[in-house]
Amino acid sequence: MKIERVFGTAPVDEVRELTRRAFEGQPVTPSSGALSESSETVADDFGEHGGLLVRDEAGRLVATCRVRRLGLAWVVRRCAVDPDLRRSGLGRQLVDAAHTWAAEEGAVRTHVGVRDELADSRAFWESSGYAPLASHGFWTELVRPLPLVLPGPEATYELGRRLVADLRAGDLLVLSGPLGAGKTALTQGIGAGLGVRGHVTSPTFVLARVHRGPLPLVHVDAYRLRESGSSRLELDDMDLDADLPDSVTVVEWGEGLVEELAEARLEVTLARPDDESRTASVRPVGRRWSVFAQTSVVG
Ligand SMILES: Nc1ncnc2c1ncn2[C@@H]1O[C@H](COP(=O)(O)OP(=O)(O)O)[C@@H](O)[C@H]1O
Ligand SMILES: [Mg+2]
Repeated sequence: MKIERVFGTAPVDEVRELTRRAFEGQPVTPSSGALSESSETVADDFGEHGGLLVRDEAGRLVATCRVRRLGLAWVVRRCAVDPDLRRSGLGRQLVDAAHTWAAEEGAVRTHVGVRDELADSRAFWESSGYAPLASHGFWTELVRPLPLVLPGPEATYELGRRLVADLRAGDLLVLSGPLGAGKTALTQGIGAGLGVRGHVTSPTFVLARVHRGPLPLVHVDAYRLRESGSSRLELDDMDLDADLPDSVTVVEWGEGLVEELAEARLEVTLARPDDESRTASVRPVGRRWSVFAQTSVVG
C-alpha cells in the first residue's frame, strides 16, 4: 500500500466514487453529504486543505480522507475505505497517516464528526484516542490530542507561543506533569505570545501572579496548595488583581483542583522521558473548543 499526501490537484472522480461507495454502506438520516457532493466540492477540498490517497499494488484507490486545516486544529473528514477491504487495518493506517501529517504541519489536535447512529464508527475513533468534545444533535464531535515531541526548551517555549492562537479572554489552561517537565517554560511562551509585561517565573512562593497586557495572564502554581491537601483552588478568594473572565489563566499542578472553575479548559500534559527532551499533549474539554461551531464541515 502506498499512502500519498495531496495538497492541490486530486484525482477528483476517483475520490468521489470511492467516497460515495464507502458512505453508501453506512446509511444514516439525514443522509451524508458524501453521497451527493459534486466534483467541484472534492476539487476544492483538496485544493484548499488537502487529503490522503491510499493505492493498492495495482494502483487502484482503496482508501482516502480529507483534512481541514484550522490552525492548531485539523479536522479529519470523509474517511472512506473500499467496502471490500473493510477490517483490513486500512482505516487505521489512513488515520495514522493523517495524524502524522497534521502533527508535522504544526497541528496539536485533530477533530472528527461522527454520526450518533454509527456505533462501530464511534468505537473505531475512540480506539484511536478520540474522546467526545461536543454534541451537535445527530452527530458528535470527537477530539484527539496529537503527541508532541519537544526536543529542547525552545520547543516548549514555542509551543506556548503557538497556543496563544487558540486562546481568548476567560480561558483556563491546566498544566500537569512532574517537576521539571516544562510547565513554567510553557507559561513563559504563553506570556510572550500574549505580549504581557514582566518576566514569567515560577510563582511557587506567591501562588499566583498577574501579568498585565492586552490580554492579562494569571499564572498560578498550585504545587504547595496540592501538598497542603487542598481539594480545590479558590481563585476568587485569592484577591487577585485581575478579572478571570478578562484574562487567560494558567495553572501549574492544577489537575483535580480547578476543574470546577470553568467547564471549558485546555488540559496540557507534559512528560519528561529523559533530561534532554519533553513531550506534550493538549486536550480541549468543552464546547468552547469545538471547531464546528460556525461552519458545517462534518464528513
Ligand atoms: N523540551 C525540553 N527539553 C529539555 N529541557 C526542557 C524542555 N522544556 C523545558 N526544559 C527545561 O526543564 C527545566 C524545568 O522546566 P520548568 O518549566 O521549570 O518545569 P516545571 O515548571 O514543569 O517544573 C528548565 O531548565 C527548562 O529549560
Ligand atoms: Mg514550574
